[in-house]
Amino acid sequence: MPVEVVAEIRPTLVPGKHPYMTGPFTPNYQELNATDLEVIGEIPQRLNGVYLRNTQNPVHQPRGTYHVFDGDGMLHLLSFEHGRCEYRNRFVRTQAFLEEQAAGRALYAGLIDKPSLSERPGWGARGGLRDSSATDVIVHAGQALTTFYQCGEPYRLDARTLEFKGVDTWGAQVLPDGGISAHPKVCPRTGDLLFFNYSKQAPYMHYGEVDCHNQLVHYVPVPLPGPRLPHDMMFTEHFAILNDFPLHWDEALLAQGKHKLSYFEDRPSRFALVPRRHAPQTGIRWFEAGPTYVLHWLNAWEEGDEVVLHGYHQKTPMPKAGYDNTGNTLGPERYGPTLYEWRFDLRTGRTSERRLDERPLEFGMINASYWGRPHRYTYNMIAHPGSFLFDGILRHDRVTGQTQTYLFGEGRFGSESPMAPCHDAQSEDDGYVVTFITDMRADRSECLVLDARQIDAGPVARILLPHRISSGTHACWADAREIRSDRGALAP
Ligand SMILES: [Fe+2]
Repeated sequence: MPVEVVAEIRPTLVPGKHPYMTGPFTPNYQELNATDLEVIGEIPQRLNGVYLRNTQNPVHQPRGTYHVFDGDGMLHLLSFEHGRCEYRNRFVRTQAFLEEQAAGRALYAGLIDKPSLSERPGWGARGGLRDSSATDVIVHAGQALTTFYQCGEPYRLDARTLEFKGVDTWGAQVLPDGGISAHPKVCPRTGDLLFFNYSKQAPYMHYGEVDCHNQLVHYVPVPLPGPRLPHDMMFTEHFAILNDFPLHWDEALLAQGKHKLSYFEDRPSRFALVPRRHAPQTGIRWFEAGPTYVLHWLNAWEEGDEVVLHGYHQKTPMPKAGYDNTGNTLGPERYGPTLYEWRFDLRTGRTSERRLDERPLEFGMINASYWGRPHRYTYNMIAHPGSFLFDGILRHDRVTGQTQTYLFGEGRFGSESPMAPCHDAQSEDDGYVVTFITDMRADRSECLVLDARQIDAGPVARILLPHRISSGTHACWADAREIRSDRGALAP
């Protein structure tokens, strides 16, 4: 396995026992390129594209208390081409990352610190945060786009080489409103990037579209009653779907400069159907449903007079015992996210809702070419109790309710696992599911490739990586035909 060490970042972290800086979350500091990786099994010839995963990978000793969402961004990449593959990993060199590299120490406070602990204004809806761009990654207009959960600048990297390209050209146009949130989506039919942002200044939320030529072509306010903390969005052919959930900063305390997350269970969940730019501009329509919080959506589509939305409804968005200050209470058994359906009736303005499965699941993926139209299969992560780690994948069939599961094994933790459709796919599930594994027993990492039709049969290929990688956050699959890279195909 030829391995090239491209760069090495010198950390200032003091060795300790923080659960999100050690064990499966031990950060990586070497940036590598590796080819001719050892493969157990066989890489499918029909798998052509890239698997990209973002990671919170802390470099500097925190100024206050470290939260699992505070780390610097690092992308891990596996490129697949006709049975061959290549691994790369790179830090996302955001402005905050470069400033802290120059200073040789942390300049910004963490999520649970007081913003005043930051030396500089920083980014994020709350303010004072390091824009690490460590939350999410998607491929749009041929390049990778990384984003920060509390809103920040849109950063671009080459989707094959991970060469850093900097802040996107349209970033300055949206930065006065906070930039963009994590979880923008790419419409598979138009190639448009659909995004939102949120802040503490009225109107508190915006919706925007960047076309397939990477031009900002649509940007509208979505007024809210006050500052909110939405995390994800979805869309149909005609609508973007944004939200106003009753889990947000206490408005009375916020007026005193205190950021206290509170759940107002006597208030409804509210959903905004915002017309997309090609749809008739008939104004935003709001729908109400029972109180909850949703971190991640799976899909949405239109059915006659109804708009259908699927995502993970939380049974207890604010667990009775509350949250601790490190992210240790992120285990989903605490807040009970389950597969759920909302239906918004455009004729009556009413919402109906139902639970689709009782098991706690999150970080789900579908074949992304089905975004905005009805899907059948979801690939959901099975969480490790009490932690922000994943023990396995559950495939759910929306039509029959049948499920298949694949568990990674003791001490083996997976990543968000996108579905990678084949070029010549004959059906929605004709493709593979890919995931990175951090194996604490074998002290190494690998990429698993599973047949999307039969994940319970186990991997068809296990690709051994040149180092053990930290557990991470969001991931995506991009087909080779979507990528516009400085470098062409893998060397023969
Ligand atoms: Fe997320």
